[in-house]
Amino acid sequence: VVDPRLQGISDAIRVVPHFPKQGIMFNDITPLLLRPGVFKDAVDIFVERYRGMGIDAVAGIEARGFIFGPAIALAIGAKFIPLRKPKKLPGEVISETYVLEYGTDCLQMHVGAIEAGERVLIVDDLVATGGTLSAAIRLLGMRMPSFLTVCK
Ligand code: PRP
Repeated sequence: VVDPRLQGISDAIRVVPHFPKQGIMFNDITPLLLRPGVFKDAVDIFVERYRGMGIDAVAGIEARGFIFGPAIALAIGAKFIPLRKPKKLPGEVISETYVLEYGTDCLQMHVGAIEAGERVLIVDDLVATGGTLSAAIRLLGMRMPSFLTVCK
């Protein structure tokens, strides 16, 4: 049985060809945010799936993981960890570089944001190559910064 909310969510995402570069089909979630009922449906689907599963933390990937992640975290009673682009976090950080469809980038997390054994749900708006999500998984697996984990 297909969840009837999925069609409304799909319809509210706008595909913008050749943004931000030629050949990229950009999936824009901002129209979805203008429709509170659909925005709520998108959050609720994750809340229903992950509530009661012992999730300790929701890690949101900058930037659009910061839109959906905190709402899901509050609803399931988990802490929220921002995974940020370089030079945004003021404390000691752990870093992970990754390859994008359009260049390379890096994610950083504050040391001490998670503890060994905690269960983390990673939230973002979409997966394309999976490079960003893979970097987030590697980053969350690290506890301490090292000379290998600086943004290039
Ligand atoms: C987009 C999107 C994901 C990532 C997915 O972010 O929000 O984070 O790309 O692509 P991937 O699966 O190929 O790694 P973007 O890099 O545009 O950064 P932004 O959110 O800061 O605009």
